[in-house]
Amino acid sequence: MKTDTFAQHITNIRQKLTQAPNEPEELRIFLFGKKQGLFSEAASLLRELSPEEKPAAGQKLQELREEMETLLTEAENTPSKTEWLDPTLPAADRPVGRLHPLSQAINEITDIFEKIGFTRVRYPEVEWDHYAFEALNMPSNHPARDEWETFFMNAPEHSQLGKMVLTPHTSNGQVREMERLNSEPPIRMINIGRTYRRQQDVTHTQMFHQFEGLVVDKNITIQHLKGTIDHFAKEFYGPDSKSRIRPFHFKFTEPSFEIDFSCTICKGTGQLNGETCRFCKSGWHEVGGAGMVHPNVLRAGGIDPEKYTGFAFGWGVERTYALRPGLHLDDIRLLFTADPRFLEQF
Ligand code: PHE
Repeated sequence: MKTDTFAQHITNIRQKLTQAPNEPEELRIFLFGKKQGLFSEAASLLRELSPEEKPAAGQKLQELREEMETLLTEAENTPSKTEWLDPTLPAADRPVGRLHPLSQAINEITDIFEKIGFTRVRYPEVEWDHYAFEALNMPSNHPARDEWETFFMNAPEHSQLGKMVLTPHTSNGQVREMERLNSEPPIRMINIGRTYRRQQDVTHTQMFHQFEGLVVDKNITIQHLKGTIDHFAKEFYGPDSKSRIRPFHFKFTEPSFEIDFSCTICKGTGQLNGETCRFCKSGWHEVGGAGMVHPNVLRAGGIDPEKYTGFAFGWGVERTYALRPGLHLDDIRLLFTADPRFLEQF
């Protein structure tokens, strides 16, 4: 190696080191490596110099060695840009999980009814024909069964309870609850669960949830039913909400009603800025059925209809929830997509 090559190397390295290189270790080996390091090579050059030249050159080399060492140490202690780490920064937040909007709705519905003395129960999703239909005053071959578009299971029939079905409504819990309480009122049940029907469009899914209320006691009247529904409407939708009952027909209630809640957008007026409210068109939304428990259903549950009366209602959780103010849920199928971009909004 020639002296000017050495000088050139030193100039290059000095420049590199002052720019805080990403990998100073490589430069350290290049400079101070035992065998082929730049300085060991320079030391061998030194040996070829005359005795007069040696001390000054040796001195110069030592100074350069020290300068390089200082620059290297500095470069080694400066974190490289690509591996920048600031240990004082707050830790990144972990994504927080949350309950599915339907679970939130179910919890809220449960709370509202528990506060007024109802007991939350759960009954089978895969049910016998007896509890889903027969005990509810719907004998086999009765046309009223058609409304429920039932999924029957391909399974052996029970000798007394009949076929197995995916329960099409939570009303299957009515007679089960009477049996659970040994046919001894008072009964105040809130049964929330999954239900299944052959249906699929923007407002219907094959699997959906219902919540079923059942109250049986002495002297229970339609007044109690109406009061309970009104209470729920105010608690769930806000103090301005109203409910109304319209005559309808179910085999397991007599009389039977359909339940409407006032529209939360137009406040039940049916008018918005001088036009018909597009959301409800009438001021009201239908949410489900209700009625006074049919004497045959009380009898099926071992309760004497001469002594006791009761009311029942059954509504869809998804539908009830979709009518919440500010929640423009045009397609309830979204609730079951498990898409975080949708679910994270709740
Ligand atoms: N089970 C009925 C339905 O699914 C609703 C209902 C429940 C009606 C209780 C009356 C009493 O449509």
